[in-house]
Amino acid sequence: MDPYRPLNRSVSGKTVLITGAASGMGRATAHLFASEGAKVMATDVNVEGVRAVEEEMRASGHTTVGSMALDVADADDLKATVDKTVARFGALDIVINNAGFARSTHPSEAKYDEIWEDSLNIMLTAHQRLIRAALPHLMASPEGGRVVNIASTEGLGATPGNGPYVAAKHGVIGLTRAMAVDLGRDGITCNCICPGPILTGITSGIPDEHKEIYAKRRVPLRRYGLPEEVANITLSLCLPAASYLNGAIIPVDGGMSIKNA
Ligand code: NAI
Repeated sequence: MDPYRPLNRSVSGKTVLITGAASGMGRATAHLFASEGAKVMATDVNVEGVRAVEEEMRASGHTTVGSMALDVADADDLKATVDKTVARFGALDIVINNAGFARSTHPSEAKYDEIWEDSLNIMLTAHQRLIRAALPHLMASPEGGRVVNIASTEGLGATPGNGPYVAAKHGVIGLTRAMAVDLGRDGITCNCICPGPILTGITSGIPDEHKEIYAKRRVPLRRYGLPEEVANITLSLCLPAASYLNGAIIPVDGGMSIKNA
């Protein structure tokens, strides 16, 4: 019989770059990776916000952490951020494409075009640019590079008034699959998480009673999720031991996407 092969279940010492890390799931992911001993580069267009997250991580005793202003819509800035991260930490093993925003619009509205453009730029085009900018470093990662894209249950279906977001998130699923088949030969895995309703900045404007009614009607677990509950699944996908998971689309939604009635 073959001996049992224990695999590495730690991201300690790995370098991770996270976009949209000033708030919500990105912030929770930064904290979690830092607490697991990873070298964390937290980035966000919200400079003060991401600096504050760096301070929080330092206050928790984590020293291999940094933060940088990054608007993911800026292609040059994306590349420069990868270069600066590698200059700072000596490697880049893990990329988390998380930055995003939500703006409602109906196809009859003039603003649809503008929201479409911003949504696809920030929540889809930026993802491929960051992965490609990081590629040489992901290829060089000794235990295999890892990419996690944060899509949404809006990548699996559609809520009315959400067209550009829905299109971008469906695109993230396609991009994940495309990257998984293109980069697999380089030992890089690319997987995607589809969060359901999560308590973050994006959903903070929804009144609590509406959240409760929605969750009880739609989510088998009958509640919104916590950003930490998503961050922990993101971490799992980035473990060296997650080496045979590639191109997976994983709902983290309390069962919302499989509930029929
Ligand atoms: P959040 O609002 O708490 O965090 C999003 C972060 O992205 C913010 O810090 C914001 O400044 C940053 N950001 C926005 N535009 C940016 C840009 N151009 N460049 C860099 N950073 C930018 O929201 P949340 O929920 O944590 O969002 C994270 C991801 O999760 C997003 O991609 C969102 O679409 C996705 N998501 C959220 C769900 C929810 O219920 N909260 C459900 C499904 C998906």
